[in-house]
Amino acid sequence: MKLGIVRERRLHERRVAASPDTVKKLVGLGLDVVVERGAGLSAAIQDIAYAQAGASLVDTAADALGDADIVFKIRKPFGPDEPDNEVDLLKDGAVLACLMEPYRDRGLFNAIAARNITCFALELIPRITRAQTMDVLSSQANLAGYKAVIEAGAAFGRAFPMMMTAAGTVPPARCMIMGAGVAGLQAIATARRLGAVVSATDVRPAAKENVESLGATFVAVEDEEFRQAETAGGYAREMSREYRDKQAALIAETISRQDIVICTALIPGRPAPVLVSEDMVKAMKPGSVIVDLAVEQGGNCPLSVYGETVSRYGVTIIGRANMPSEVAVDASALFSKNLLNFLTPLIDSDTGLLSIDTEDEIIKGSLVTWHGAVVHPAVLELQDETGGEAS
Ligand code: NAI
Repeated sequence: MKLGIVRERRLHERRVAASPDTVKKLVGLGLDVVVERGAGLSAAIQDIAYAQAGASLVDTAADALGDADIVFKIRKPFGPDEPDNEVDLLKDGAVLACLMEPYRDRGLFNAIAARNITCFALELIPRITRAQTMDVLSSQANLAGYKAVIEAGAAFGRAFPMMMTAAGTVPPARCMIMGAGVAGLQAIATARRLGAVVSATDVRPAAKENVESLGATFVAVEDEEFRQAETAGGYAREMSREYRDKQAALIAETISRQDIVICTALIPGRPAPVLVSEDMVKAMKPGSVIVDLAVEQGGNCPLSVYGETVSRYGVTIIGRANMPSEVAVDASALFSKNLLNFLTPLIDSDTGLLSIDTEDEIIKGSLVTWHGAVVHPAVLELQDETGGEAS
């Protein structure tokens, strides 16, 4: 069986879906790995490293995809209506695994199903213990949380740690983290390592212990709704208007004393909750920095601009389009490993062929198209909302 890797063509994307290390292991599983030349360059992986790991190099995406039985990508392929159409380069019946943004663009899923592609959306892999090594959301969010703090530090005209010098004392930076999931917890740890005084907020009660165990102060409205805010899947619910008002009052009071705010709060399939209003930004000290990691889902701050750094009321607001891609080398290595771990149990050790058990919890959770049809309930729901055609 052939496995194809192409250069990612989406804007702001520097990652690649295989590393020399995973290529070696994929070859060890009996796969012929085909890599488009230059696929790894923006993640500092030279073609020669792939070749030495056992891959064949080809000149174009069409060459890498045309015969591939399995395709690993970082981002969803361009569809038939887009200039760089990748869907039509895929072999009929191929297996595709990548980030699919499953809550958007039903048309793309229809096009993929029409090509009889077996498509897995990595975002939908259930967060169960067995799937931890496959969890791209965690591996990428972790790096994004780290990099957000580094970016904030670079844009901040002051130091993070307290410094007592002969010329005077530099006070520590105050840093607040909105949302204490994977990205937020890494942001807390990074800001603490740099010497900042850190606080964090979340709506899930479980987050409180995590935040405090990292030495940060937990700030939240801890009422009955808060106690019920975690879904069975471990994610946050969208909170009521009443809760959001109480939360806003508490955040407004805290935020005016902050130098750095890192926004990471998300709700799967919904717009990001607005937590830092324009009035709150106005109340922040000039020179403060906000990094809005939620900007792709609309942002936790309405003033953040996707893909841009803007200055409002003396506050720098960073809205990087793709933070994990800013740490492309490590992000690619971890993403590739997640993909390898996802694929390995699907390969029958006796025959060396793919064996997809649609009753398996991980497969069921992430399989989006199968035998020419869209099968995942979340994507089927999208059809109802958009009026898209059944396939
Ligand atoms: P996420 O990326 O969906 O959201 C980030 C954070 O924002 C979450 O902690 C969420 O509670 C918070 N948030 C949402 N609305 C908010 C609001 N209005 N105000 C403040 N905070 C708000 O979350 P992530 O990082 O993917 O983690 C979600 C859950 O999944 C967590 O419980 C985490 O522990 C769990 N998880 C489990 C794994 C496993 O393998 N068992 C692996 C990784 C995460």
